[in-house]
Amino acid sequence: MRFLSTRRKHPAAKPLTLLLALFMMGAVYALVSPAQPSAADPNTNPQVAQGKGLYDVTCSSCHGLNGEGSSQAPSLIGVGAAAVDFQMGTRRMPMAKPMAQAPRDSAPEYSEEEIAAIGAYVATLGAGPGVPSEDKYSPAGLTDEEIARGGELFRTNCSACHNIEGRGGALPEGAYAPSLHGVSSKHIYEALRTGPQQMPLFSEGALPDEDVKQIIGYLSKVEQQPQYGGLMLGAIGPVAEGFWGWLLGIGGLVLVAMWLAKKGARAR
Ligand code: HEC
Ligand code: HEC
Repeated sequence: MRFLSTRRKHPAAKPLTLLLALFMMGAVYALVSPAQPSAADPNTNPQVAQGKGLYDVTCSSCHGLNGEGSSQAPSLIGVGAAAVDFQMGTRRMPMAKPMAQAPRDSAPEYSEEEIAAIGAYVATLGAGPGVPSEDKYSPAGLTDEEIARGGELFRTNCSACHNIEGRGGALPEGAYAPSLHGVSSKHIYEALRTGPQQMPLFSEGALPDEDVKQIIGYLSKVEQQPQYGGLMLGAIGPVAEGFWGWLLGIGGLVLVAMWLAKKGARAR
């Protein structure tokens, strides 16, 4: 005490006590403050932590702070990392503005690392399909018979919505099944296992990996074939084709009629 009281008037006393007080406050705070909230344990897994950070900023406005969904968007609990990889890999998500069906290639591009991080976080919300490894979907080494079988499987399970050649088609209520041309094997596999939007989910029980590979093999074969005959007319089906028939057919007749009328008028 004598030591302190004799030095109280020292010019350095005030700043030193202040420093000491700050240090004590810091130490006490570190002891008392609670540990980080352990939602999905971002503490132990830096990838999940990164994913949660990105999710909070980019996705939570529609899908809810804990992936519970909202009036704007479905719940992501149990959709799995495969759904995130599919939706972000085909650039459907993050959806730019609320609408019924997010079109392919409409969202900003994210790096594989960022997509994997968000997927890892979403996977902690509830068990769901993981991102598949290449041996599950690669059609490499399929025989011609297997590819032909893939065509049969495709006609039975998929062509009702996606058209016989996978060119896509319209569905009720303004929805559509997109063209499957140019879709990567991995994204085809993930679409089956996660059932995006109006598409049914095909589980491994319903369609084993071997069958999926054959379908993928068939689709890449169809894609390599040249297109025969005429314009594609958007390849949406009979409605579009009928529309063009009308436009060119009736439109052409109208033009001819106008031309005739003009000619007739001049002749008079
Ligand atoms: C503007 C609102 C909006 C934002 C932002 C948004 N989403 Fe979505 N999301 C939707 C809607 C609506 C659907 C359902 C319609 C559809 O699938 O096309 C959906 C569907 C999904 C699905 C499919 C769910 C399933 O059942 O298979 C996933 C996965 C998904 N979103 C992930 C994300 C991720 C990850 C982000 C952030 C990077 C994100 N979304 C940002 C609106 C949004
Ligand atoms: C009931 C109709 C329906 C059936 C049956 C169906 N799909 Fe789909 N499919 C859809 C719809 C709708 C979408 C678009 C989902 C979206 O945009 O979120 C889609 C999307 C896809 C995509 C994503 C394409 C892209 O643009 O990224 C693939 C791949 C796919 N389907 C493959 C298949 C295969 C293979 C089968 C058969 C095993 C099948 N689908 C059966 C309706 C269907």
